[in-house]
Amino acid sequence: MRRVVVTGLGAITPLGAGIKHTWRRLLAAESGIGSLASRGPPFETLPSRVAGLVPLGSREVGCWQAKDWLHASEERQMALFAQYAIAAAQEALDDAGWHPTSQEDLEATGVTIGSGIGNLDEAYNTSVAFHESGYKKVSPLFVPRLLINLAAGHVSIKYGFKGPNHAATTACTTGLHAIGDASRLIQFGDADVMVAGGAESCIHPLAIAGFAKARSLATEWNNDPTKSSRPFDRQRAGFVIGEGAGVVVLEELEHAKARGAPIYAEVKGYGLSSDAHHMTAPKKNGEGAFLAMRQALKHAGIKPSAIDYINAHATSTVLGDAAENTAVRTLLLGNEGKQHASEINVSSTKGAVGHLLGAAGAVEAIFTMLAVHHDILPPTLNLDCAGDPPEEFDCNYVPQTAQRRAVNAALTNSFGFGGTNASLCLAKYK
Ligand SMILES: *[C@@H]1O[C@H](CO)[C@@H](O)[C@H](O)[C@H]1NC(C)=O
Ligand SMILES: *[C@@H]1O[C@H](CO)[C@@H](O)[C@H](O)[C@H]1NC(C)=O
Ligand SMILES: *[C@@H]1O[C@H](CO)[C@@H](O)[C@H](O)[C@H]1NC(C)=O
Repeated sequence: MRRVVVTGLGAITPLGAGIKHTWRRLLAAESGIGSLASRGPPFETLPSRVAGLVPLGSREVGCWQAKDWLHASEERQMALFAQYAIAAAQEALDDAGWHPTSQEDLEATGVTIGSGIGNLDEAYNTSVAFHESGYKKVSPLFVPRLLINLAAGHVSIKYGFKGPNHAATTACTTGLHAIGDASRLIQFGDADVMVAGGAESCIHPLAIAGFAKARSLATEWNNDPTKSSRPFDRQRAGFVIGEGAGVVVLEELEHAKARGAPIYAEVKGYGLSSDAHHMTAPKKNGEGAFLAMRQALKHAGIKPSAIDYINAHATSTVLGDAAENTAVRTLLLGNEGKQHASEINVSSTKGAVGHLLGAAGAVEAIFTMLAVHHDILPPTLNLDCAGDPPEEFDCNYVPQTAQRRAVNAALTNSFGFGGTNASLCLAKYK
């Protein structure tokens, strides 16, 4: 079986533009969540007025402005989620040192970048303009700016990559499905190198209204935004919407070794499952999450006892976090697992960045790759008291402060509306 390793990382997140700033601030327990109150009237009427926003400013100081990453013509043609994806892809490719020019190399390189929602802003504005003023108000760029697969399309056009070109859209599992599926394409021989990830930017009043009506969002912390996303905490009460992109370069092992590429981690296993239960609510026993993790471990040929860290999906909702917690304990305790729950290290980085929806799985896979690479566990912000009930929340959730620990093998989970669950097993390359 062909082995797959990670050779490049790129991210635009609420903690910064670029991996360096994002990772430094994540380990320093800084928050990327802020208030939307200043964004004007439509936001002011909504029950949730907090979000994980990509900080604006120059690239040098780790902030985002499109012109630092894109030509003006690219910026005009692309939705914001696609702009974030292009920037993250650029960073990942530079990091991997992969800038092929030969026909053979270009054909062996593919792209899978998805988004959960895509360009809601464009759909909204064009709908309103069409309704009010008709055909003449529809831009010729409407469709290209709308389509979700255009992030992947733009990356391949920019770099001339002629391998597989794909875009998952599986709600909040999108980013992880993109990376997992890309690893399969390499294993099967469809490509030697894949640029894979997820991107999202829909901090739009209509998106917030929709998630709020589904009773998914945090509404109690509008005056204290940095406290609003609190995975596993007793006072958690909904997720905080976020934006950004995460993109990785995956590579067949021998290919990476032959060109002396840096190796962050190996993709050891990938599990997919479905709750087959409900549109938005998890099954209480966490069955879907359990099945996905178990499958990822089976693939990897790794026992539950060998898992040193789990980057949880945990979005800070009452039911979701509890179901995942149950699934993690069921998987890792007993039999071939750990003796005590306190030996389970699991954190949710959503406390710091919020829920990046279609980008979440990719950004969190990157955090997990970095945890494996640097032997450090990123913290769960705002975790004052795990629960409820406390006796079922007895793992090490890495509260508030990062912890230094050997991380040889790790899992990262992503779950999405519709009941779709995925888990990726990453390990140190040996
Ligand atoms: C949509 O319209 C709003 C309000 O006029 C504007 O701020 C925003 O930039 C527009 N978005 C797009 C994608 O055109
Ligand atoms: C599986 O995905 C569903 C999607 O809605 C999610 O709600 C659920 O939390 C996931 N399963 C578990 C047990 O976490
Ligand atoms: C974390 O993981 C290590 C193994 O890597 C384990 O020994 C330890 O007990 C776990 N829990 C805590 C609280 O450190």
